Amino acid sequence: MALERPRGTRDFPPEEMRRRDYAEGVVSSVFKSFGYGKVLSPAFEHTELFRRKSGEEISEHMYVFEDKGKRSLCLRPEETASVCRMFVQDLRSRQLPLKLYYHCPMYRYEEPQKGRYREFWQTGVELIGSSRPESDAEVVMMACEALLKLGLEYTLNISHIGVLRGLLSEVGLDEVGQDKAISGIDKKGADGVGDLKGGDALRSILRLEGGAQAMKEAMRMLEGHEKPLTALEELRKVSVLLDSGKADYRVKLGMARGLEYYTGMIFEVRVAGLGAQDQVCGGGRYDNLIELFGGPKTPAVGFAFGFDRLLEAMEQQGACFPEKDLDVYVACASDAVRPDAQRIASDLRRGLEGRSVELELLGRKLGKALEHASNLKARYAVIVGPDELKNESVTLRNMDSGEQRMVRITDLAKLID
Ligand code: HAM
Repeated sequence: MALERPRGTRDFPPEEMRRRDYAEGVVSSVFKSFGYGKVLSPAFEHTELFRRKSGEEISEHMYVFEDKGKRSLCLRPEETASVCRMFVQDLRSRQLPLKLYYHCPMYRYEEPQKGRYREFWQTGVELIGSSRPESDAEVVMMACEALLKLGLEYTLNISHIGVLRGLLSEVGLDEVGQDKAISGIDKKGADGVGDLKGGDALRSILRLEGGAQAMKEAMRMLEGHEKPLTALEELRKVSVLLDSGKADYRVKLGMARGLEYYTGMIFEVRVAGLGAQDQVCGGGRYDNLIELFGGPKTPAVGFAFGFDRLLEAMEQQGACFPEKDLDVYVACASDAVRPDAQRIASDLRRGLEGRSVELELLGRKLGKALEHASNLKARYAVIVGPDELKNESVTLRNMDSGEQRMVRITDLAKLID
């Protein structure tokens, strides 16, 4: 039986990798423009790292295995815990705030469907060391900037997990109970509240959605509820900064996240047309995680794009991807000149740094070779022939116009724009 790839994983042919590399380049150049530096952590970690605070949702879906030394390890299901571990282990003496980004595969044993894979990529950032609303606003603005550069239309929802936690503690739930209720709300929205005592007020707050008016309305509704109101006030400060950055957002207090480590502002980005898996980005503030991993109490905020979903959204919305462009195709008029063609192609690659030069490799006759060059969308063909070689020359053909002329080999690189 032929071997197949594991369920929930994909192979990426060159055309797709070209699109992915392009999108990754766009997003990471936005991150770099805000001063973020790229990091990479191991693909597997001690299972304990993700069990501590990522939450049931993630824990249930981890790829856990025992190594030969009987250690329990798991493939990383997300990167925030790894980055915090890295910070505690190696980076804690760095100047703060520390601005990090990553682009790497994650592994979750979920039921595969469109937009949901067992191996998927996240491109994300973690801003470590600032508790100020400016840093919440910065990461949200960074996500918006990346989406704009990718040419995507989207909906940005913001909230503060403290509103939910505050209200849930008022109806008598301890942290574990809150985690459970939040997980229910994450899955079912306001209906996830179930039959909690005092649940009606909670449900109406959670159903509140909209712009500045929704924020005002929530302020009014939460009057006298100290904890949730303090959280909402923090969110209001972030929203003022987002207004001045001209970010288009909606306040959605019913939003919850599957991850349990969030302590402050949370946000998500959704894109229409992706079906059930329409969330292309999720993030928020997590001020306790670094301490939980044995580091000093250090506030942090970040987000991750579901990179595969970004690509799907780009395709769905007809985004422009750069075409593959082959700059030069080197063909031979006869077999005798093949060693010369090889040398000319090598010299051209050196002379035309950063551009692509392909050499004919199947022994095709000239006509077929030029047809192939045209299929590859080569901009130029260099035809190496025995007569021209006697004059240290080759034929340079512009593949768009079909024009061709004899040029000296030493001038070749200069003539290719
Ligand atoms: P998350 O919400 O679990 O957050 O995942 C972030 C994004 O990864 C989701 O919005 C979604 O686009 C994508 N994603 C999740 N699961 C899958 C899957 N099975 N297949 C395809 N895409 C998927 C986190 O992981 C946090 N670490 C984000 C964060 C960073 N918070 C603070 N800093």
